[in-house]
Amino acid sequence: MKEEAAPKKAAPVEEKAAPATAKKEAAPKKAAPVEEKAAPAAAKKEAAPKKAAPVEKKAAPATAKKEAAPKKAAPVEEKAAPAAAKKEAAPKKAAPVEEKAAPAAEAPAPVKVMTHQPRRSVAFIGSECYPFVKTGGLGDVMYALPRELVRLNCDVRVILPRYACIPKEYQDKMVYRGEFYMDLGRTGRNYYVGIMEYIHDGVVYDFIDNQEFFSTGNPYINLVDDIPKYCFFSKAALAALNYMNWIPDIVHCHDWQAALVPVFLKTLFQSSPVGKAKSILTIHNLRFQGIYNIPTIQYWTGLPDSVFVMGALKQGYEDANMLKGGLAYADRITTVSGTYAQEIQTKEYGEGLENHLWYHSQKLRGIVNGIDYGMWNPETNPALVENYGLGNVLDHKMANKLALQKELGLEEDEGKFVIGLISRLTNQKGLDLVSAVIPQVMDGNTQVVILGTGDREFEDTFRYYEGAYKGQFAACIQYDESRAHRIYAGADALLVPSRFEPCGLTQLNAMHYGTLPIVRETGGLKDTVEPYNDFTGSGNGFTFDRYESGLLLDAINRAKTLYFTNRYHWDEVVQRDMDKDVSWENSAKQYKELYLELTQW
Ligand code: ADP
Ligand code: GLC
Repeated sequence: MKEEAAPKKAAPVEEKAAPATAKKEAAPKKAAPVEEKAAPAAAKKEAAPKKAAPVEKKAAPATAKKEAAPKKAAPVEEKAAPAAAKKEAAPKKAAPVEEKAAPAAEAPAPVKVMTHQPRRSVAFIGSECYPFVKTGGLGDVMYALPRELVRLNCDVRVILPRYACIPKEYQDKMVYRGEFYMDLGRTGRNYYVGIMEYIHDGVVYDFIDNQEFFSTGNPYINLVDDIPKYCFFSKAALAALNYMNWIPDIVHCHDWQAALVPVFLKTLFQSSPVGKAKSILTIHNLRFQGIYNIPTIQYWTGLPDSVFVMGALKQGYEDANMLKGGLAYADRITTVSGTYAQEIQTKEYGEGLENHLWYHSQKLRGIVNGIDYGMWNPETNPALVENYGLGNVLDHKMANKLALQKELGLEEDEGKFVIGLISRLTNQKGLDLVSAVIPQVMDGNTQVVILGTGDREFEDTFRYYEGAYKGQFAACIQYDESRAHRIYAGADALLVPSRFEPCGLTQLNAMHYGTLPIVRETGGLKDTVEPYNDFTGSGNGFTFDRYESGLLLDAINRAKTLYFTNRYHWDEVVQRDMDKDVSWENSAKQYKELYLELTQW
C-alpha cells in the first residue's frame, strides 16, 4: 500500500500536489450538481442494518451477463445517466465485461465456521490483497483476516479495484456481477462502475472495474493519479454495495486509499441503504495519508464544505488530508499493534497527526497482525527444497540453507551464519543502518541475503556490496514471493531494523520458519519479538532500542555469539519460535469483538 515502493518500480511519489487546475482541465465545463446530503458527523444511527442476504453467485454462463445483474439496482443516489449520456460517459474503452464461462466460485474449501458465534457481515475495502495484487503487508492482511473472520461466522466481502495488473489467472476466474454509472464530485460526468466477482474459501471478492482509473501496471503511481483513483474507488465501493443490495453491518476500511469511505458514509451516503453500516478505519501505515489541495479533493469527491474543516479533512491552510478525514468520521480506528497505537499519538511517530489521533484516542485500538498459516507453512510450501515442521526443523532446515546458497551463488557452507532481509527498500525500513554496518558484519563467517525493491539509493548500495563481497553477499533486487519463502527457510536470522514499523510481518514469517528475528524495538516488532535473555534462555530474537547503527551491530553480534558458541540454546529458540502462536486466531477474535461492540442488538 505504499506510494513509495510499489514492486516492479513505481515512479517516485510527488508528495506535493500539482496545481488544482491541472486536473480541472479534464473536466467538462458544466459541473454536475453535487448531491450534498451532508448530515452532521455526529449523527448516530442506532437502527440495526437488516441482515444482508448472502449472495448466491453461481457460475454465470457466458451469455447470462444481463441476467446475472441483480434485478434491482436501486442505488439511492447513483442515478443511472440517461441512455445518451451513458454513451459519452463510458470510459474510452467501455466496460469490456469479460464474458467468461468460468465459474465465480472455486470448489468450496472445508472452512470450519463457528456457528455459535453471532453472525455479522463485513465489507473490507482496501487497495491491495494477495494473491491479486500485493506490494507489502497490507496485501497479506487483506487476504488473511477475512478468511479468519469467515471462520468466526462473519459474512465477508472484500472490495478491491480491478487493476489491470491482476494476473490473468484471476482475471479469468472473475464473473460479471453487474454495472452502473455513478456521478463523481464536480466532474460533471457519470463514470462506469463494473463489478467483477470471484469467490474463494468463503470470501467474496468484488472488483470495481473502470479502465480509466485502474488500467496502469502498478496500483500506486503518483498522487496526481492516485488521488482521483481512490476518490473514485471509495465512492464506487459504497455505491456497489447499494447496487448489489448487500448492506453490511460493518464497513472495514484500510489506509488512506479507503479513508474517505467513512466520510462518504456519513455524508453523501447517509440516507442510502449502506448509510446504516458502522465504519472502522485501520491504519497500516500512518506515513501515507493522501494529501492534496482542497479544491482538487472537492472536485473529485463532491464532499460538502462542512467536511473541509480542521477537525476533519482540512490540514494547514489549503490542504485536504483524506486519512485525517477518515479518522474523524470512522466509528472506530484501529492500527496493527498496541505499541504503534501509542506511538502514533507522539510527535516522533505521529506524522503530523499525533494531536488528531490523541483527540480521537477513545476510539483507537491496537490489534496486532498475524500470519496465515496456510500461506506461510514450511511443512507444505512447494517453494522449499525440503519441507519441515516443528518436530524435524533441526534435521531439515540446513538443506534449505545449502539450497539457498546454491540458488544465489553464495559459497555453499553449512557453517556460515546467514542473515536475510526481505523488505521494501525505503526509508521506513532502517536500511541506512544496515548499509552502515555491513563492512563489520562481513567477517568471513557471515553471509547476507537481501530481497527487495524500492529506492534507487538502497538498491545500488546493496548491488555494490554484492560486488564487494562476492560469494558472501546476495542482493536480489526484485519482488519474488517464492524466493521470499526460500529465504525465510534458508536463513538463520532475519533483520528488521525499522525506523518505525506499525506491525511488521517478516519477523512473524521468519519465526514461523524457525529463523530468528533481529529487530528494532518499535511498533509491532516490540510487541511480537521478546528479546533473548542470556541468563534465563527465554525470548524469541535479538533486539535493540535506539535507532543507531552501533546498536544494530551489537544485536547482530549477540545473535552470532549465540549461534557460534551455544548452538544448543540457539536451536531451542528456533523451536520456540516455530511453536509461538503468530496466527490470526486471537487477533481476528479481537476484530470480531470490535464488530460486536459496534453492532449491539
Ligand atoms: P510492509 O507492509 O511495510 O512492506 P510487512 O512486514 O508488513 O511490511 O510486510 C511485507 C510483506 O511483503 C511480507 O509478506 C514480505 O514477505 C513481503 N515482501 C516484501 N518485499 C518482498 C520482495 N521483494 N519479494 C517478496 N516478498 C516481499
Ligand atoms: C504496513 C506496515 C507494516 C504492517 C503492514 C500490514 O505496510 O508498514 O508494518 O505489517 O502494513 O498491517
